[in-house]
Amino acid sequence: MTVSHQTGLNEQRPVSNFANHSGLGGPVDTRPYSNSSVTDESRMSRVPDNAAAWLPAKHAKLEVKAAPYRSPGKNEIVVKNRAVAVNPVDWFKQLTGNLMFSWIKYPCILGSDVAGEVVEVGKAVSRFSVGDRVLGHALGMSKARNIATEGAFQAYTILLDHMATPIPDALSYEGAAVLPLGVSTAACGLFQKDYLALQHPSVPPKPTGKTLLVWGGSTSVGSNAIQLAVAAGYEVITTASPRNFDYVRKLGASQVFDYNGKTVVRSLIKAFKGKTIAGALAIGTGSAEPCLDVVHACQGNKFVAMTSAPVAFEKLPDGGGMSLQFIALIARLVRANASLVLKSRTRGIRTKFIFGDTLANNEVGRMIYVDFLPKALAEGAYVAAPEPSIAGHGLDCIQAAFGTQRRGMSARKVVVTL
Ligand SMILES: NC(=O)c1ccc[n+]([C@@H]2O[C@H](COP(=O)([O-])OP(=O)(O)OC[C@H]3O[C@@H](n4cnc5c(N)ncnc54)[C@H](OP(=O)(O)O)[C@@H]3O)[C@@H](O)[C@H]2O)c1
Repeated sequence: MTVSHQTGLNEQRPVSNFANHSGLGGPVDTRPYSNSSVTDESRMSRVPDNAAAWLPAKHAKLEVKAAPYRSPGKNEIVVKNRAVAVNPVDWFKQLTGNLMFSWIKYPCILGSDVAGEVVEVGKAVSRFSVGDRVLGHALGMSKARNIATEGAFQAYTILLDHMATPIPDALSYEGAAVLPLGVSTAACGLFQKDYLALQHPSVPPKPTGKTLLVWGGSTSVGSNAIQLAVAAGYEVITTASPRNFDYVRKLGASQVFDYNGKTVVRSLIKAFKGKTIAGALAIGTGSAEPCLDVVHACQGNKFVAMTSAPVAFEKLPDGGGMSLQFIALIARLVRANASLVLKSRTRGIRTKFIFGDTLANNEVGRMIYVDFLPKALAEGAYVAAPEPSIAGHGLDCIQAAFGTQRRGMSARKVVVTL
């Protein structure tokens, strides 16, 4: 196969030369090196071939091609990916063009969740060594980073040292890859000072006597929100489909209600009677509206942190462009947002949309990936949830995995092994 060499046009940092452009079909050099043991010259001659599932242009299909490899900056590590997970945001971006993440320049490398083996560490990194098994939040799509070498869907990804966590021996790469964006998004909503600002998690938890509403507990974000909030000392009341009631209880929820039930808001208000609400984390399409109703009726923190748009993008036609469906969806989005703003303001409830990568730039990222998660995972106080659903092996499988994610998962995360 002939492979064209594509550099990340949005690359803002120097990229190592390729030792050999054999590209995709060829074996990937996995020989590790650390900063202390090799000279720059010898490293350049051993730079591994990298390959990525590129998004070449707005609305285009992913294309697997050669990609740049760069050595880590002083607080970074390079991970040879063994498993990556797919999130709704990946196919949202492909489907909606520049409606979201408008700062991303094409071609780009999407993906946030990686698990793999450290192959190179930056000069200031002391937490990791070459050969360590790690999971981490890849920030290539983040406005603050916006760099192709930091996207997940490639053989080698650069991670920030403080956004990675060691994987315990008992956890597989596939299992570990389900965590990063789910953990990060939940942590952004729960712990950032301008969101719910909850007490930080610890092992063992320090009880607060307060109760949190997590709407959408069986989602990937919700599975992590329940565990993080319980570890932070909060009781959690959640919603899910009845088939996932046991699942969310096992993660630590004290009560669970069917979000499709006609009386769900009434049941939740009853469940919160006599409790102090710590606020609500609204996960899933249309979740903010009922959360506002519940929070309005409860005593405590009048705050709804939101992960999801009020309209669904799943049904948009492939190929993008200004279809009638797209225009109707935007109109519904504007109407629904206006109604949320009105409802929250008239009731004195604060609302804020979460961007699941902002913790990388404040104390929450380090608190989660450096202080809490390594110990909690190693001691079995935190589980990697939801279970991975393996969509295939190799970068070529990622486009099809987008389709699998888009058709809908229930308490499962789509993972591709590499
Ligand atoms: N803002 C951000 O930075 C950010 C980051 C990550 C995700 N998100 C958003 O957060 C949401 C969840 O993402 P995810 O990756 O965690 O999803 P996911 O795991 O793929 O979600 C699947 C789950 O969604 C549940 N679900 C479906 N419709 C729901 C609704 N209306 N209310 C509550 N739950 C519903 C289903 O529960 P049952 O099977 O129990 O019915 C299913 O288990 C998505 O809207 C995603 O776009 C936002």
